[in-house]
Amino acid sequence: MSTIFSGIQPSGTLTIGNYVGAIRQFVELQNSHNCFFCIVDEHAVTVPQERLKLRDNIRSLAAIYLASGIDPNKSTLFIQSEVPAHTQLGWMMQSISYMGELERMTQFKDKSEGKEAVSSALFTYPSLMAADILLYNTDLVPVGDDQKQHLELTRDLAQRFNNRFLDVFTVPEISIPKVGARIMSLQEPTKKMSKSDENAKASIFMLDDPKKIEKKIKSAVTDSEGIVKYDKENKPGVSNLLDIHAVFSGETIEELERKYEGKGYGDFKQGVADAIINVLKPIQDRYYEILDSALLDQILDQGAEKASLVANKTIQKAKKAMGL
Ligand code: ADP
Ligand code: NA
Repeated sequence: MSTIFSGIQPSGTLTIGNYVGAIRQFVELQNSHNCFFCIVDEHAVTVPQERLKLRDNIRSLAAIYLASGIDPNKSTLFIQSEVPAHTQLGWMMQSISYMGELERMTQFKDKSEGKEAVSSALFTYPSLMAADILLYNTDLVPVGDDQKQHLELTRDLAQRFNNRFLDVFTVPEISIPKVGARIMSLQEPTKKMSKSDENAKASIFMLDDPKKIEKKIKSAVTDSEGIVKYDKENKPGVSNLLDIHAVFSGETIEELERKYEGKGYGDFKQGVADAIINVLKPIQDRYYEILDSALLDQILDQGAEKASLVANKTIQKAKKAMGL
């Protein structure tokens, strides 16, 4: 059975972008793969976080994973900082990463732009991400399109390590969803939707109640044409809403274009909101049950134990290969 690894940062409430690009794929993949799903809290602290808020976000993310359908009997769900092998291999990966290749990472450029103080960890983030993935002999990494560049670096580092030292790492493949690989901001549809966007109207969060979802979709930026047609270049707002609708209702873009032919954006937006609410409502109900249960901590403890077994073996091999 091939192995899957993917992580999400506990840096705020998840958006429907995270759901579509990441979680939704995870739920399907766990039936046919050996899956490791990680709460990457060490990545979250590469930018300032409030201590108590971070703790809440970690727990909340764990509950979201489970409420969305991640089954701890099928998948290993764990917190990155509870498995020290991540930072250990992270250091080894930094040692074989070049400044030049890290400087080319667009996420670093985006996240550091205009900031006065930027941590060195934000810069070396992709090396730690490579370690996360390589620790588990990962074959496939399901992520949104925004992570493609980091994944390419992970592959380069794995190959570089294997060539320079010993053949320790599996070189992982990337898996990007066919529809909704990049859900865009509702307010600036040329920018990706992100949980850390300062404009709260730009994102739909997985825990938004139905009224809020309707309100945000109704105020989403479109155009003045009044035609529901997929055209990413000229109609980015409408195309983004079509992507969202398609993913959440399971209809194809063509089916949706036909369904809303001759209808205005009002009907269309209502359809988008309904499709999202139908999927999120049951997840939200389960979420609040799980959040209050002690089972959550037990699942995370067991996850860290299971992950450590695999990760520690890889660390031993990597250290030996490097001469450490
Ligand atoms: P964010 O950028 O929202 O803080 P993370 O960096 O924690 O999200 O990424 C978690 C996962 O969600 C990654 O697989 C990433 O590719 C995916 N993802 C994030 N934003 C989007 C989006 N707008 N559309 C599709 N997938 C996304
Ligand atoms: Na991201």
